Amino acid sequence: MRLRFNQVDESALQLLAQKLARGLFPGAFLALYGDLGAGKTAFVRALAQELGIFDVQSPTFTIVREHAGTLPLFHFDAYRLADAGELYAIGFEDYLTRAGVIAMEWCENVPEALPDELLAISLAGSGLSPRTVTFDSRGAQYDALLEALQ
Ligand SMILES: Nc1ncnc2c1ncn2[C@@H]1O[C@H](COP(=O)(O)OP(=O)(O)O)[C@@H](O)[C@H]1O
Ligand SMILES: [Mg+2]
Repeated sequence: MRLRFNQVDESALQLLAQKLARGLFPGAFLALYGDLGAGKTAFVRALAQELGIFDVQSPTFTIVREHAGTLPLFHFDAYRLADAGELYAIGFEDYLTRAGVIAMEWCENVPEALPDELLAISLAGSGLSPRTVTFDSRGAQYDALLEALQ
């Protein structure tokens, strides 16, 4: 299922993220796509607030940051990765079994590491201009997440 929102300003992006967060479940995988500055971290930050997490930063220099909230949040950034090898080296497969929410920025870089079922979130736009946000769900649990966003 695909859902697209056009002309999304920053507060609308935050609202989308918060609404999505309310439907999250242990093991949920959110795959974020989009250029530098598109708003991937902004999206994760707003989503995290809904989970009671208020210290999300851009994890560019660390591959993963772990946060404790109503669900654990594992915030990955694959920006610096050439392929999935480094992800596996830090125990990526363990994270998949830890019943938290995984939000991964720059999934473009590690397509081979992604699970079959996930929610893809693609952000387009930059600077102060409104964004286009496209959600693609793969799997029934993720379809349900999107139904709640409509
Ligand atoms: N509509 C919008 N959606 C998301 N971010 C926006 C929007 N308008 C302005 N911004 C700003 O754009 C920047 C996005 O940065 P960030 O979330 O770190 O991007 P990324 O993680 O994709 O590199 C932030 O400074 C944010 O305040
Ligand atoms: Mg970022």
